Amino acid sequence: MKSFIDLRSDTVTLPPLNMRKAIARAQLGDDVYGEDPTVNDLERLAARTLGKEAAILTPSGTMANLLAILTHCSQRKRLLVGDQSDIWKWEAGGASVLGGLVYHPLPTLANGEVPIEAMDAALYGEQDFQCVPTGLICLENTHCLCGGKVLSLEYLAQVYEFAQRRSLPVHLDGARIFNAAVSMGMDVRHIATFADSVTICLSKGLAAPVGSVLAGRSSFINHARRLRKMLGGGMRQAGIVAAGGVYSLEQMVDRLSEDHMNARSLSQGLAEIPGIEIAAEPPQTNIVFFTLADPELSLKYFLYALENEGVRVMELGKRKIRAVTHYGVSAEDIKFAIEAVGRALARARAASSPVATADFLPWQEAEKPFEMAAIVP
Ligand SMILES: Cc1ncc(COP(=O)(O)O)c(C=O)c1O
Repeated sequence: MKSFIDLRSDTVTLPPLNMRKAIARAQLGDDVYGEDPTVNDLERLAARTLGKEAAILTPSGTMANLLAILTHCSQRKRLLVGDQSDIWKWEAGGASVLGGLVYHPLPTLANGEVPIEAMDAALYGEQDFQCVPTGLICLENTHCLCGGKVLSLEYLAQVYEFAQRRSLPVHLDGARIFNAAVSMGMDVRHIATFADSVTICLSKGLAAPVGSVLAGRSSFINHARRLRKMLGGGMRQAGIVAAGGVYSLEQMVDRLSEDHMNARSLSQGLAEIPGIEIAAEPPQTNIVFFTLADPELSLKYFLYALENEGVRVMELGKRKIRAVTHYGVSAEDIKFAIEAVGRALARARAASSPVATADFLPWQEAEKPFEMAAIVP
């Protein structure tokens, strides 16, 4: 029995029963000694799936991205990142704080692309001793803050070619790369081939409780292994975590299409509610952004009213509301959520009305404003 339909993020997914059973049965060893058979299986499986030579398990996507950055770049280098990317916005500046690196955020288009012209302009004249030389280009696919947008293969190929001409590596934050692959109906390897290293997250749409993986060349992953230990990411009987990851890669990828279908229904349903503003084109994957058309309405109050209706969404960006579909959210839940949004909007309007109705006042009294949960991506 669910108490909430939780659409804040696909990170809230809980492991399916069979994944829990696989975790319970996992063969274990000390992974810092390279002796955990389940971790070794997961790393081999992830590398093979992504078409890379090797892979390494990490506790989080943040650590996987940081390992990639620190492995690609020596100190005093610059990384080109999208200004809407998770690496830039939500990973606590680890590359600067821990790696002595400089972020160079570049504008991001609505489709998640960072224009190659912007990268080219950023590199212009960098041989001048006054500049920080560039060491890495980072992309994100799907692009979370752009609404789960899928980067086209054409764009990825162009960026890769651009980077190679300048002897720069490309790192792909593929926390949701399987959403991209399922949306495009293609093998994930075709996407990963346009990056030197790729991060995947097991604990988002793939529903594992913990874990991410970084994949790339063997020599690159060996170096990352040393840095992972340095960062405190060497986990001992980590097969407990890896078993969930193996299940994710083997059993949870194809079903992402269901989440994409639910996101399309959600978007369509929301578009039919007067007062909700939402992009005309359907979502490509599992992330929907919308807002309240009336700037006078309190977004906080709307979110509060919606939570009282049993649906959680998240404010992510100024007056931007995010709803993410994922394992554990059914088509029925989506229908319920759409109706709940309509009711919550009516409540938000009533609350902001200068003439509160008689039956509104006691209701307003009865419900105390709640503290919004801390914003997490
Ligand atoms: C695109 C993207 N990359 C990386 C991360 C970081 O993953 P984690 O929360 O496991 O550190 C997130 C988290 O939501 C994300 O959305």
